[in-house]
Amino acid sequence: MKRILTGDRTTGNLHLGHYVGSLQNRVKLQKEYDTYIILADIQALTTHFEKPAFIQESILQVAIDNLSVGLEPENITMFLQSKISAIAELTVFYSMLVSVNALRHNPTIKTEARQYGFEDLSYGFLGYPVSQAADITFCNADLVPVGEDQVPHLELSRKIVRRFNDLYGNGKAVLKEPQPLLSTTPRLVGLDGNAKMGKSLGNAIYLADSSESVKAKVRQAVTDPNRIRKTDVGNPDICTVSTYHGVFNSEEHGNICELCKTGGVGCVACKARLTEKLEQLLLPFREKRAYYENRMDQVREVIVAGSERANRIGNETVEILKNSMGIRL
Ligand code: TRP
Ligand code: SF4
Repeated sequence: MKRILTGDRTTGNLHLGHYVGSLQNRVKLQKEYDTYIILADIQALTTHFEKPAFIQESILQVAIDNLSVGLEPENITMFLQSKISAIAELTVFYSMLVSVNALRHNPTIKTEARQYGFEDLSYGFLGYPVSQAADITFCNADLVPVGEDQVPHLELSRKIVRRFNDLYGNGKAVLKEPQPLLSTTPRLVGLDGNAKMGKSLGNAIYLADSSESVKAKVRQAVTDPNRIRKTDVGNPDICTVSTYHGVFNSEEHGNICELCKTGGVGCVACKARLTEKLEQLLLPFREKRAYYENRMDQVREVIVAGSERANRIGNETVEILKNSMGIRL
């Protein structure tokens, strides 16, 4: 079986953007691939170093988010980044192989720095793509299923691997070059029409949201601003709700666009239909969430067992890399 590695920072609950961009894909792949899921609590520190308690609470929440959408404990190795010493060690080795300028020009780093209002970037934040290369390579992952914002990071990982092999491989590939496995669904816009649904943007529907909350959020979603009365014709091309129908209700999307353009459906009804569709998706997730929330010890055990397995592989990798680098007494 080929191995995939992917995961999330433990900075709060996951939302529909994560589901569409990544989680959905993981669920599909778990049977065909040896699936590694990282709970990236160290990477979480790069932006949330002042909120360690929040990061810690998020670990179990993000784990449950993953389990609630259908990842099965017996199919996956879910592990905590901070428990894997190999990741820390590889990060140091790899840091020699990456220029500061390359990191400064990384488009995802730039976007995120702007988003968080960082001007003078910390060493850790600037370098997190290097640590992410360690996340991916410590277990020799073949594939990394990610959304488009992670593509520059994966490119960097591949460069590091090539560089490492060239320098220390003695003609052999000590490390494997990971391949991206891109989600086919485009990035989900925020409820406010913002290009991205984001935890820090206040425009997200969370997998853990209640029915009432989903309903209220959809009611407030941004539509065609020129459409005031039901008899006005609408323009679905500039409407967030229409975009969501395209993603979560694709069978009816064409029809809804037609009705909107001819004034045949009002925004209230259109939103109500979207809410129904989202509820159909979220209901089974809520049931699984409730199951695991009543069995937190089981969730912890999944992470402990996964971290042990990951550590065994990680320690072997460190030995191999050190040997190839000639780091020994
Ligand atoms: N940076 C990723 C995110 O914000 C999370 C992550 C950490 C990750 N390490 C990874 C994703 C390794 C893929 C592979 O979503
Ligand atoms: Fe958007 Fe639907 Fe209103 Fe058209 S009818 S503007 S698609 S919410």
